[in-house]
Amino acid sequence: MNNNTYVHKYIKGLIHEDDVCADMTAGNGFDTLFLASLAKKVYAFDISETAIRNTREKTRDCGNVILICDDHANLDSHIKEKIRLFLFNLGYLPHSDMTSVTDKDTTLTAFRKAYDLLEDNGYIVITFYLRHPGGRDEYYALDRYIRTKKADIIDIYRQDKKDSPITYIIKKSV
Ligand SMILES: C[S@@+](CC[C@H](N)C(=O)[O-])C[C@H]1O[C@@H](n2cnc3c(N)ncnc32)[C@H](O)[C@@H]1O
Repeated sequence: MNNNTYVHKYIKGLIHEDDVCADMTAGNGFDTLFLASLAKKVYAFDISETAIRNTREKTRDCGNVILICDDHANLDSHIKEKIRLFLFNLGYLPHSDMTSVTDKDTTLTAFRKAYDLLEDNGYIVITFYLRHPGGRDEYYALDRYIRTKKADIIDIYRQDKKDSPITYIIKKSV
């Protein structure tokens, strides 16, 4: 099973209908649409106007999605409430020119701020891609930070293929 299928299966068991979630990389809107089908409200960030347009189109019937065209490192300017689950699906917009790609420094800032905004016993689900330039550095930087922080990594998923994506499920255990 690929990482996205795994993530969706896992998240189904973590979110309830009264929860507020955030998709930190909306992209083409598949993850936002999925979260919107489970949660009360979903904040969806993307730095790319094309991605926000695609996500708006995909979620036009939902009524519970707040689209934010900004760097996810600025999440604290937009979210003023506790969040049950943050989803990071890193890398670049599929089928694009790769100009809008996540970056280790802004991803680290966003992760740190997201962890602060998490509910007790809330989750961060983050998928790293290693094959594009900067992807491996981003993974190493985040892995180091997560382990230094002693955040509770409750699951790691990776297909048994060279350089396949890696998903961490992290819980803010109290
Ligand atoms: C792998 S795609 C996300 C796929 C998406 N979740 C979906 O369901 O289609 C990664 C996205 O991250 C976005 N991105 C890159 N840097 C960002 C940043 N600093 N803040 C917010 N989004 C960013 C890209 O524009 C791209 O759309």
